[in-house]
Amino acid sequence: GSYLQETKKGLEGIVALDTSISFIDGMQGILKYRGIDIEHLAEMSYETISYLLINGILPGEQELAAYSNRLKSERRINGEMIDIMRVCNYGTEALDSLRTAISCTAHMDHENDNNSLDANKNKAVRLIAKLPTMIAALYRCKSGDFPFQPDETLSHGANFLYMLRGEAPSAIEAEAIEKDFILSAEHELNPSTFALRIAASTLADVYSAIITGLCTLKGPLHGGARRGVMEMLDEVAVPENANNYVLYKLSRKEKIMGFGHRVYRTYDPRSRIFKDMAKRVAKENGDPTWYEVAESLEHVMYREFLDVRGRPIYPNVDFYSAVIYKYLRIPPELATSVFAIGRVSGWTAHCFEQYADNRVIRPRAHYI
Ligand code: SDX
Repeated sequence: GSYLQETKKGLEGIVALDTSISFIDGMQGILKYRGIDIEHLAEMSYETISYLLINGILPGEQELAAYSNRLKSERRINGEMIDIMRVCNYGTEALDSLRTAISCTAHMDHENDNNSLDANKNKAVRLIAKLPTMIAALYRCKSGDFPFQPDETLSHGANFLYMLRGEAPSAIEAEAIEKDFILSAEHELNPSTFALRIAASTLADVYSAIITGLCTLKGPLHGGARRGVMEMLDEVAVPENANNYVLYKLSRKEKIMGFGHRVYRTYDPRSRIFKDMAKRVAKENGDPTWYEVAESLEHVMYREFLDVRGRPIYPNVDFYSAVIYKYLRIPPELATSVFAIGRVSGWTAHCFEQYADNRVIRPRAHYI
């Protein structure tokens, strides 16, 4: 009917719902979770941020200790799950199996209550705790090895790296992965969160909603870009190649992974923190090449967009996080799944916010 508004391609600038989970000022480059600046949050633990996102307030000392113990005690996955992982292992993209693993977790979750907030928060804790174990186990199964058991003495981030490698990471590596989980945890109505809120708005259960989010994260225009950046770093290999690489890709109208954003018109505040962290990780490693390749790509992109299109372009959350993944020896086929380890707290928070004040999400299309 003629009363329908004009279509906004990609829903750019459309305000779809109210949220108290995060705030973005895309002009000034400000990001807050629950009213707190990302720069401040980046110095805390992932467990703290996870609690903040799900419960709406920072935990006190006792609440944090209790939450941390619960997460740690839920890290393990059972033998049946590992058997399933051996059968459903991935070809080239771990997320394909992670999707199955989360589905199996739902089958094995014997708390049948899908409605109460308490039961749903229990499911969230199980998911948040088990995701790193599942991803590390998938990786180990892929190479025919036995998964390492989670180590309860280690932080959320350090334990993940331990389960991938069988040895505890350095202090800087542990800090880098913890920051990665924190900075990846939440970002308002990004595509995966929006998709998940649509699923939740039909009153689908938490696991179904999370799988909706996970599947939407996969694409290279969203979370899949992180893997794309890792592959680009290998392809470019040395800083001197960055110029030709970018010019070639742009001449073919191809996207450069890890650049641009729908909301930010200035530097993504998460990228700034990731860039500093990447520099420190590179320094500890002793070989700065990947970091230098990334910096060259950033310079060439900035110049090309400013010169040719009259406005600059900046790295997004997936760019320097991918540099960190290279130094942490996280395989590219795991990159999108590792993004999900952080994001699952934001996803569950949005799921609960949707349930709490629900109306089914159902927009209109313009018939042509
Ligand atoms: C994430 O939304 C979120 O919050 C997502 C996220 C989160 O935390 O959840 O931040 C995580 O998904 C980060 C984005 C990861 N994706 C990539 O890195 C892929 C490369 N980026 C682009 O495809 C793009 O910038 C998007 C998808 C991120 C944004 O798409 P928009 O909003 O449609 O882009 P735009 O309107 O700002 O683009 C303007 C122009 C276009 O050219 P013209 O049509 O005007 O000629 O700039 C071009 C674009 O094609 N452009 C790029 C580019 N990004 C934009 N050209 C080459 N390489 C790029 N990266």
